[in-house]
Amino acid sequence: MAAQKSARTIVPRLARMAQSGKILGETVLMAAGRKAKRRWAQTQAHDPWVRRARNRGLPSRAAFKLEEIAARHSLFKPGLSILELGSAPGGWTRLAAAGVAPRGRVVAVDRLDMVPPAGVCFIRGDLASAQTRNEVLMALSGKADLVICDLAPNLTGIRDVDEANQVELSSLAAEMAELALGDGGSFLIKAFMGLGSTALESRLAGKYRNVRSLKPAASRAGSKEFYFLAQGYQP
Ligand SMILES: C[S@@+](CC[C@H](N)C(=O)[O-])C[C@H]1O[C@@H](n2cnc3c(N)ncnc32)[C@H](O)[C@@H]1O
Repeated sequence: MAAQKSARTIVPRLARMAQSGKILGETVLMAAGRKAKRRWAQTQAHDPWVRRARNRGLPSRAAFKLEEIAARHSLFKPGLSILELGSAPGGWTRLAAAGVAPRGRVVAVDRLDMVPPAGVCFIRGDLASAQTRNEVLMALSGKADLVICDLAPNLTGIRDVDEANQVELSSLAAEMAELALGDGGSFLIKAFMGLGSTALESRLAGKYRNVRSLKPAASRAGSKEFYFLAQGYQP
């Protein structure tokens, strides 16, 4: 609720900035987007975790973050049912599928395509669409024990735009977790310091018995990224 309110206040702010000429329209957005992408590519090229991921045949460095959190907090157990939000290119999916085997279930969703590991139900779709959300809930066929979310919007490099996009995604993910989880379930979600993270924490605190913030070693020290682990869902 607080996250939705925050999105409602940011979008009009953007409109006002556009009117006053502080945002010069699509050209500026595209230039900032290109700059953000260039910065990202440079960081990737020098990142030891990216090399480590390649050596282990993992599609991304993101897997190391989940690996650490899952091991520390015993997130995976054989037979669990997991919903994964924002799964491509599939690093987390592989860990989750291995962690719940045998007899476990993983439903993964992303708007980008990926090749899912054997036994994983992958849904390609945008979580902003009601049709995708329904497909995901149908595929789960029952309540999930754990929802893991590594969703990230495309960064534009413009703080207000990135904040609005992140707030909207987190709010979608929190809503999806509330629909999917059974009593006592857990929710792991990526957040960015300052980008709606306080509103997200309040929402989680109102729905789960225990909420903690985590910064795994593979998460870049200078980045605003961290994770909330919310446990003990109370429907
Ligand atoms: C950081 S990546 C996930 C990496 C993944 N955890 C891994 O280990 O390979 C974030 C993903 O969120 C997805 N995403 C962002 N917004 C989305 C949306 N509205 N619906 C579905 N997927 C979305 C992106 O397509 C992207 O693949």
